[in-house]
Amino acid sequence: MQYLETAVEIAREAGALLANYFERRVAFELKGEFDLVTEADRSSEKLVVEKLRSYFPSHGIVAEEGSGGPGSSEYRWYVDPLDGTTNFAHSFPMFNVTLGLERAGEVIAGVIYDPLRQEMFTAERGGGAYLNNRRIRVSQIKRLADSLGSTGFPSRKRSHNVNIHFYYQLAMASHGVRRTGSAALDLAYVAAGRLDFFWEFGLKPWDQAAGTLLVSEAGGCVSDMNGGPLSITGSDHVLADNAVLHNEVLAMFGRIFGGQAPLALPELC
Ligand code: IPD
Ligand code: CA
Ligand code: CA
Repeated sequence: MQYLETAVEIAREAGALLANYFERRVAFELKGEFDLVTEADRSSEKLVVEKLRSYFPSHGIVAEEGSGGPGSSEYRWYVDPLDGTTNFAHSFPMFNVTLGLERAGEVIAGVIYDPLRQEMFTAERGGGAYLNNRRIRVSQIKRLADSLGSTGFPSRKRSHNVNIHFYYQLAMASHGVRRTGSAALDLAYVAAGRLDFFWEFGLKPWDQAAGTLLVSEAGGCVSDMNGGPLSITGSDHVLADNAVLHNEVLAMFGRIFGGQAPLALPELC
């Protein structure tokens, strides 16, 4: 598909730009209490938005740093020019650029590019999920007790986030729960079978448009944390997993939401 090919080309260019800034180390500013932004976020967004506009002038663009705009067609791009800014600003090598394309409310194509590992994750609706042009599939882990998960904690309003309760219960029930600092890569890793499940509260559409399509196309399951359909623009939370674990993870979430978490938090001594 012409859209996916173009998105891959743009992500590769933006990724090279990010890798270059990463080598040089950039200063960060705060756009919220703990919400970092760097010159790299802005330059990458400028590149991606200008390219999208030149190739697809009628398409809408929703980009994290605010330089998008509405379009005149039913197509809309969600752009995270640098997902993993906190990692990036601290020279922690885990970040990506991601683009998802929605048509009439449905995500139809997505790209997540990790320039440090040169890993290009791609998916088109109905066409499967790929890593560097090789088909990827979710894991076949059958029990939560044998699984590896991941989650994230948003930078905005983080003192109001209840996720630490979920983190504790899921970490105790599995081999562990990673916190990579890059939601798009978390989702790509579920699609690639490197992680068995991922959840997070409060993600934005640009964080999850491409990644949730990748997970579905790799044979996984995507929903909100109550098992309802996910809306990338409207849901408060997301669960993405290898499909086999879906009901077990949802049952655990149900107990935690209902105040019936299996384990009490340990006492401080
Ligand atoms: C953040 C990362 C992080 C997630 C946050 C996101 P950003 O995106 O994806 O893993 O936990 O919720 O906001 O700000 O680095 O683009
Ligand atoms: Ca970002
Ligand atoms: Ca992000």
